[in-house]
Amino acid sequence: MEPGPTDTTFTPDDPGHPDYHHRQRATVALARWESATPCRYRQATATHPGVTAWAQRAAADSRDAGFLVLTGTIGTGKTHQAYGALRTIAEAGPPRFEFIATTAPDMYGRLRPGGSDKGTEYELRRLATVPLLLLDNLGTEKLSEWTEEATYRLINECYNQCLPLIVTTNLPVRAPLDDHGRPTGPDLVGRLGERLASRLAEAATALILNGPDRRRHLRSAS
Ligand SMILES: Nc1ncnc2c1ncn2[C@@H]1O[C@H](COP(=O)(O)OP(=O)(O)OP(=O)(O)O)[C@@H](O)[C@H]1O
Ligand SMILES: [Mg+2]
Repeated sequence: MEPGPTDTTFTPDDPGHPDYHHRQRATVALARWESATPCRYRQATATHPGVTAWAQRAAADSRDAGFLVLTGTIGTGKTHQAYGALRTIAEAGPPRFEFIATTAPDMYGRLRPGGSDKGTEYELRRLATVPLLLLDNLGTEKLSEWTEEATYRLINECYNQCLPLIVTTNLPVRAPLDDHGRPTGPDLVGRLGERLASRLAEAATALILNGPDRRRHLRSAS
């Protein structure tokens, strides 16, 4: 007996249609984003054109994006844009959406010997292998030799594995130089060292977020 005709025309609402699966992935990724995002940033969306462009690149091919470094003074919206970038990636419905967001001081606390149950090497591997990492407030403290080495190992691993990494910092990447060629103030390069500066120069999209402290503005507006 001849098999009857089969209906192979899927609509975007049918399982089997690429749009359907794409939507399913985006829904799961967004739920994951929301549960891992601190309350204050759950409304965050990326509005800075450079941030959205980076996030779209990361969503299309995470190996292409490189690092995103957001610099600026206190309260200019760096963390907001960083979580917004992660949301943009989630909305794109990537095949795998997994991220770790940590502040640098928290990270050093866990990496320190005795700072976590599973130990320094385990923590470092966890951070260095997650598909997306947000390192918030890097450079707020002067690094000891030990923390500088841990930061180097982590960022170098992301660099080697072409993993996307978002860094926010209050420091400029490079401070202006004085007449003697010395930096006029602290900068990321001085804090992290030239080995990392060289990798950032190659792999990073560095954006400066200017403006007043939004927290004071929010306060006076309420
Ligand atoms: N585009 C935005 N729309 C609405 N609220 C925003 C926006 N950007 C930032 N905010 C709010 O402004 C406040 C400061 O933003 P955020 O914490 O991102 O600043 P920051 O640059 O990371 O500050 P810091 O340098 O102190 O870490 C927060 O309450 C945040 O929710
Ligand atoms: Mg912040």
